[in-house]
Amino acid sequence: MDSDLPKRLLSNQCVDLSHGNTMALACMAESVVTLTDEAQLDTFMAGYGEGTEDHLPLFVLSGGSNVLLPAQLKAIVLQPKMRGISVVAKTEEYVDIEVMAGENWHELVVYTVNQGWYGLENLALIPGLTGAAPVQNIGAYGVQLEDCLQYVRAYHLPTKTWHHLTASDCQFGYRDSIFKQAPNTWLISGVGFRLHTDATKILASYGDVQTVAQRYAEQQGRTQAVPADVMQAIIDIRQQKLPDPKQLPNCGSFFQNPIIPQEQFTTLQTTYPTIVGYAMADDKTKVAAGWLIEQAGLKGSGIAPIVTHQQQALVLTNHAPYQSTQNDVADAQKYIADAVYKKFAIQLSREPVWVNTDGSIGYNEHVA
Ligand code: EPU
Repeated sequence: MDSDLPKRLLSNQCVDLSHGNTMALACMAESVVTLTDEAQLDTFMAGYGEGTEDHLPLFVLSGGSNVLLPAQLKAIVLQPKMRGISVVAKTEEYVDIEVMAGENWHELVVYTVNQGWYGLENLALIPGLTGAAPVQNIGAYGVQLEDCLQYVRAYHLPTKTWHHLTASDCQFGYRDSIFKQAPNTWLISGVGFRLHTDATKILASYGDVQTVAQRYAEQQGRTQAVPADVMQAIIDIRQQKLPDPKQLPNCGSFFQNPIIPQEQFTTLQTTYPTIVGYAMADDKTKVAAGWLIEQAGLKGSGIAPIVTHQQQALVLTNHAPYQSTQNDVADAQKYIADAVYKKFAIQLSREPVWVNTDGSIGYNEHVA
């Protein structure tokens, strides 16, 4: 039997992915396989292996909201698009759900809050699909994905086997996980969450969240904000600060907030009393990279067409969608990181994933 047959049946050749990444970088992929159920992956992988004539490396692409794709992607792109949300268990206090990788993240957040299932509301309006959420342990407004996540169902590509990973197996950290550490190794097909049903339990301590949520509560005749108010507040705050990728292509925070020794932060505070930082464990401080970039005079600038956002300097935006390339982003990144380093002696690290031409995850000479 022709072992390439399943691959050929499932894949599309020479696919333009410039609309498949929220940064809208020009990208042509050699081959794309869209997976709408888990069995298709088994079928595809059964025919995939060394020695087949057109053997190309594999690259997993989800919603494309945290990647910098190359102009030519000489790989087989696997796109998990499985859909479905199911209730696995339910008590008075909590609901366990399993969500398939292809579900839109923000729609999931809205759906769960409307059902009276809480915990994800602080993560509203984060672009992308559910399957990618564990990869960088998405986080916002005091909540990280790991706070609600119970398990991940994933396929281990090198051994062609399915696995159930508990939250601790996932090795979550700040914007980090086992999936991010070992790129192109796992394909996430489903995520299990435990959500709570207590409408009085909210987390609104970050920034303006409490004030805005309280305003929504009062408009609805409530004295106390409920999770739906928090969700609405976060939608408002994000819409004011963060550009909608559909209108102005971007991939969210472009740099991570650097973690520096407390001592270095204290020294910086003497020169820059308004510097923004959050104390962490082990005598470390997480510094707001957006503040550093703004103070380096780069809010709204960069190297055209890749410039920082006017309302949030941490976000790089692409003003020449579908034309700019990864190299344009690298140039802007270097320019910004160098300026910040010159002023504060702090090295900025990129948050989105840099994809090489062969689908491997890599770095380039521009990485700060
Ligand atoms: N700031 C500035 N100038 C700027 C941007 C920010 O001075 O241009 C200051 C703000 O005034 C504030 C501080 O920096 O005092 C922090 O800003 P913000 O609350 O906007 O959050 P952030 O640290 O810049 C992080 C996440 C965001 C997440 C927000 C809210 C990272 C790398 N980014 O940004 O995540 O939405 O907190 O929790 O941790 C993403 O990952 O794509 C993302 C948007």
